[in-house]
Amino acid sequence: MGKVIAIANQKGGVGKTTTAINLAASLAVLEKKVLIIDADPQANTTSGLNFSPDDDQKRTLYEVMIGKLDVRDALIQTEIANLHMIPSHINLVGAEIEMLESEERESVMKNAIAPVRGDYDFIIIDCSPSLGLITVNSLTAADSVMIPVQPEFFALEGLGKLLQTIRIVQGGVNPGLGIEGFVVTMFDGRTKVHTQVVNELKEHFKDMVFKTIIQRNIRLSEAPSHGKPIILYDVICNGTTNYLNLAKEVLEKNNML
Ligand SMILES: Nc1ncnc2c1ncn2[C@@H]1O[C@H](COP(=O)(O)OP(=O)(O)OP(=O)(O)O)[C@@H](O)[C@H]1O
Ligand SMILES: [Mg+2]
Repeated sequence: MGKVIAIANQKGGVGKTTTAINLAASLAVLEKKVLIIDADPQANTTSGLNFSPDDDQKRTLYEVMIGKLDVRDALIQTEIANLHMIPSHINLVGAEIEMLESEERESVMKNAIAPVRGDYDFIIIDCSPSLGLITVNSLTAADSVMIPVQPEFFALEGLGKLLQTIRIVQGGVNPGLGIEGFVVTMFDGRTKVHTQVVNELKEHFKDMVFKTIIQRNIRLSEAPSHGKPIILYDVICNGTTNYLNLAKEVLEKNNML
C-alpha cells in the first residue's frame, strides 16, 4: 500500500509545490513508483510538470472528486518513467462548494484515489495555501503531512493554526495521520534570521525537523518555467542534491532504503 504524504502549509509561497514536485521526482529517480496529485486550483504542480491544465480540462482532480471520472483515467505519465500525475485546474474551486452537500465530505479524495493506492510506493499531494475543505480532504487521504517552512521571522507563528487543523483531522476522520516532518526551504546561510529560525524550529520540534535543508537556489525557481523537475533541468545544482537527500531521508524514515 503506497504511503500518502500531503505537503501542506496554509502560508503561501513557502515552497510546497517546489517540494512536492522535486521530492516526487527524486523518489521516482530512486526507483520508487510515485504519483503526484495537484490538489491546488492554482495548478502550479500541473504546469511545473509541463502539462497545461487547459489541455485536457475534463480529466483533472476535479472530475475525479465529483465522481465524474475514474481516478485511473486521470493519470498522466510525466517525463520521468516512475512518476505519474493527477493534474489540477482552476475549476477545482467548484469542488469545494459541491462537496459541502456530500455526507462524507472530508473523505471524498481518500475514497476517489483508493483504487490506485496499491499501485504506488508514494503518493505526494501538493496542497493549496488554505485550510479549506480540499486541504482537509488531502489531510484525510494522507498517512502523513510534510510541512515546508520558509525561515522567515513569522514562520513559526503560522504553524499553530496548521497543527490545530492536523489535530482536528486526527481527532475525527483520520486518527492515523502522522507528521512526516518539517522541512526548511529557501535557506540562505548568510542571512542571520534564517539560522535563528532553523534553531528555533529544532528546539520546538526536535527530530521532527528534517536534517536535509533546502537551500535557496535560483535553478529551483527556473525549472518550472521549463516544465521540468530540477533533476531534469540541472542535475548538478544544489537544488537537485538537496531534494535527492530529502528523498533519501524520507526513505530512511520509512525503512525503505
Ligand atoms: N529553494 C528555493 N530556492 C529558490 N526559489 C525557490 C525555492 N523554493 C521555492 N522557490 C520559489 O519560491 C516561489 C514559491 O515557491 P512554491 O510555489 O513552491 O511555494 P508554494 O508554497 O507552493 O506556494 P503557494 O502557497 O502559492 O502554493 C516560487 O517562485 C518558487 O520557484
Ligand atoms: Mg503551491
